[in-house]
Amino acid sequence: MINVLFVCLGNICRSPIAEEVFRQLVRERGLQGKIKCDSAGTASYHTGSLPDRRMRKVAQERGLQLTHNARQLCYEDFIGFEYIMTMDESNFANVQKESYRVSGSFLPENQLFLYRMFDPLRAGSLLVPDPYYDEIDAFRNVYEIVSRSGVNLLNWIIEEHSLDAGLE
Ligand code: 4NP
Repeated sequence: MINVLFVCLGNICRSPIAEEVFRQLVRERGLQGKIKCDSAGTASYHTGSLPDRRMRKVAQERGLQLTHNARQLCYEDFIGFEYIMTMDESNFANVQKESYRVSGSFLPENQLFLYRMFDPLRAGSLLVPDPYYDEIDAFRNVYEIVSRSGVNLLNWIIEEHSLDAGLE
């Protein structure tokens, strides 16, 4: 099993939508038996909560239901997840700090990524902007970014692991 973890700050906006979009893409390619995903936040403020209602509304507009309960990133994630996708540089730095704190080492560059590296339209920006204090359109923008990035991430994993996948 290849395990992919999506990480943001609160685990109620960006990473739960990234997770669900990616799960859907994996299903569409018939790879649900080979690739699993989850999400977590670097902070614990929202532990146990459903995703933000604005994020759920945008997901629903696209036919997706978000049922993830927020949880904080933990040490086991560094062992259990082959790929960890962070939404911005602050998430990235926080993950590295936590890894160093618990194990005395940083995660390697083939395990920890800025998710937007996979967005073909990133146009110089490597962050998925935090929509929390913004309008609903900011949440729609997050959806677009994680959708584009998800397609590319999945293609990359398929190639890296020589997976036998259905047509795109
Ligand atoms: P997320 O968004 O990291 O995409 O889940 C946020 C959620 C909550 C907060 C900030 C960002 N907050 O400050 O509570």
